[in-house]
Amino acid sequence: MNLVDFIDGHRDQNLTELCEFLRIPSVSTKSEHKPDIECSARWVADHLRAAGFKSVEIIPTKFHPLVYAESLEAPGKPTVLFYGHYDVQPAEPLELWTSPAFEPAVRDGKLYGRGTADDKGQVHIHIKALESLQKVDGKFPINIKMLIEGEEEVGSVSLWDFVEKNKEKLKADALVVSDTSMLAKGAPSITYGLRGLNYYQIELTGPERDLHSGVYGGAVPNPLTILTELFAKLHDKNFRVTVPGFYDSISKLPPAERKALSALPWNKKDFQKAVGAPGYAGEKGFSIVEQLWTRPTLELNGIWGGYTGEGAKTVIPSKAHAKFSTRLVPNQDPQKISRAVEKYIRKLLPKTVTCKFDVLSTGKPWVAPFHAPIFKKAQAALEKGFGKKAIFIREGGSIPFVTQMHDTFKVPCVLIGFGLPDENAHAPDEHILLENYFNGIKAIAHFYRDLATL
Ligand code: BES
Ligand code: MN
Ligand code: MN
Repeated sequence: MNLVDFIDGHRDQNLTELCEFLRIPSVSTKSEHKPDIECSARWVADHLRAAGFKSVEIIPTKFHPLVYAESLEAPGKPTVLFYGHYDVQPAEPLELWTSPAFEPAVRDGKLYGRGTADDKGQVHIHIKALESLQKVDGKFPINIKMLIEGEEEVGSVSLWDFVEKNKEKLKADALVVSDTSMLAKGAPSITYGLRGLNYYQIELTGPERDLHSGVYGGAVPNPLTILTELFAKLHDKNFRVTVPGFYDSISKLPPAERKALSALPWNKKDFQKAVGAPGYAGEKGFSIVEQLWTRPTLELNGIWGGYTGEGAKTVIPSKAHAKFSTRLVPNQDPQKISRAVEKYIRKLLPKTVTCKFDVLSTGKPWVAPFHAPIFKKAQAALEKGFGKKAIFIREGGSIPFVTQMHDTFKVPCVLIGFGLPDENAHAPDEHILLENYFNGIKAIAHFYRDLATL
């Protein structure tokens, strides 16, 4: 049977199976979901077996298990390592979902549910593409290693250790990942750059206990006020980060790349529609695409302290907290940046509070050339699946494993994303366009098949 006919003939079956995967609430950050994480890992392992992998392992780690499968039965053919993640972000705030986060639902050609785009839907594309090849051709066209982890959304902590100890096992001619986005609907894309990410948390302590703000207010420091003053000082009026040395090592974008980025079919109206803010602001001197993909940032991600319940409570809180992060671009060193950020914050803070400063995770940026022959194959495969020529983009998100693989093995990393920027990854009403999911299976099946002649 013809590959495309086979895949088209299994649309409903594939979708039903994906929904089963999506119903498992595998939220990696919350300990109450540990059983769901385990269940999700088993689900992936079972379906890799059903796809034709004879060697499938669930590898325990200090935190969440890794799923690893391999098929090395194509002598003389290339070996590809596929990476994806079965964990998802928390679904909160639950009340903002049109249909429940873990009860997948189709509306208007889109499949809604946590993990649809990030990343279960995209992992499923590969499982189904491989299963289709196995059923149609009776074998996999190339050697394939599959690594699907459960800690991506919490910084891939256990993965570092695993890669260090299993270099031989993971060795491949290329890394293939589907955990990114297309530039826009109808624009199949290959991502050649990601930003890095450092994540921080600080705790300021003023008075040793909460105080009545009438009895003490006016004569004691308020850590919440000090925290907000601190964050107000971390950007200047041109939206540049004020941490000394923050931009020092960044090299200027080559004019040719600047030109290529500005020529992409990127649409400002679509961007603004996806954001829905009353106004826009970003670092002066750069286009929005450059701001999103090529410039570093410092973002406040959460801030809390004092009384936030119903009604009023007159209190001077003892403590104030914030979570924040920096996105990093090529040549910025995550360790140097975290030291510079801590040093500057300590310098800005008055003596009236003490500060506990934690770096929760660090991760390097990744940008790589895309002239290796495998990129031509990827482009051709996307054209077969989507009927359009694929474009090369960078993105602003972070996938720690990609940098790590690239540093360790120096092999081409091919990032083929089937999400869209407005599909609400990490937010309520996350979804994936069904057309992209179905065409994705076809494109990836062609890709793996065509790699036999790389
Ligand atoms: N799939 C995303 C990364 C991504 C998103 C890449 C959009 C390109 C475009 C991934 O699951 C993710 O959310 N990564 C985190 C980093 C991680 C260390 C928590 C991120 O980018 O915030
Ligand atoms: Mn992801
Ligand atoms: Mn994510």
